[in-house]
Amino acid sequence: MNRRKIIVAVGGVALGMTSAHGARPERMKPQIGDVLVYAFGDRIGSVIKPADVHDDRIFAFAMASDGLVRDGSLHNQLSLLRVDEIAMSKKTRRYAAGSILAVSAACTHTGCEVSGWQHETHELICPCHGSRFAVLDAAAVVLGPATKPLALLPIEQDGGVIRVTGKFSRRIGPAPTY
Ligand code: FES
Repeated sequence: MNRRKIIVAVGGVALGMTSAHGARPERMKPQIGDVLVYAFGDRIGSVIKPADVHDDRIFAFAMASDGLVRDGSLHNQLSLLRVDEIAMSKKTRRYAAGSILAVSAACTHTGCEVSGWQHETHELICPCHGSRFAVLDAAAVVLGPATKPLALLPIEQDGGVIRVTGKFSRRIGPAPTY
């Protein structure tokens, strides 16, 4: 199974997680005050500076003040994007740090990693079944089969870091099937 297909498989299986309150810190959702760090690649675990975010999407996780990276659930994976602030909808702007947005990378259809990014159209694209999400319009669905928007995480630029300022805009990934 490649990494693109395992967001639900890993994120949805309760590996010792008991509840929202009992979850291990690395599996907890991003918390207020956390900073965003690189999720993968040569700079994995390094703090992402606002100036690092350009046209290309950066995959990120949140990191607590004690250095613990919340990468224990791939449901915590984020797409960090720089887009045109002026073109954002009012709702989108509420979650943005200037022109930078943090969007959940877990597809709301069946939970694949939303790995495609088309900067020209400002759309995130899920490779599993082709859903497309309009980032400027609060990650609303442009093309299904997904029917729900991706979750936005509120952030701010704080000195040289990108900091979490609140909770996700909606539940992460697909709705449960039970
Ligand atoms: S899981 Fe994303 S479109 Fe199906």
